[in-house]
Amino acid sequence: MNLFVIHGPNLNMLGKRDPKLYGAFTLEHLYEELATNHFPDINFTFFQSNYEGEIIEVIQHSLEESYDALIINAGAFSHTSIAIRDALELLEIPKVEVHLSDVENREDFRKVDYIKDVCNKRFMGKKMDSYLEAVEYLLNLED
Ligand code: DQA
Repeated sequence: MNLFVIHGPNLNMLGKRDPKLYGAFTLEHLYEELATNHFPDINFTFFQSNYEGEIIEVIQHSLEESYDALIINAGAFSHTSIAIRDALELLEIPKVEVHLSDVENREDFRKVDYIKDVCNKRFMGKKMDSYLEAVEYLLNLED
């Protein structure tokens, strides 16, 4: 499986953000856990940006790539970006939204999520395990 994983703003700062919400690991550690320790048979492509336009462009460009599925944690853009939602709608591959924290049980503004209903599923609130569940879900879709 070729799996594209997109991270949005401030997720490059994992390890420095509130560990109670997000865990104490860095983004690099998360990549390593996924690609090396948990799913060595999956071919991961990782991308992170703090810029909305870059995220939109990488989603558009992924139409020309042979990705089988996509995982996106768009960070705060999940709650604001109709443009990222519109870009995701272009992709016909399975898409999963992930959050480390439980966005439904935080501030009200995080309950707004423009991305969730253009994705097949959303996993959240379990820090790194949200990602493991997302990948397992995508693997099960392939069976
Ligand atoms: C987040 C939740 C967002 O509300 C927040 O802005 C983030 C991280 C998460 O993974 O829990 O940056 O996407």
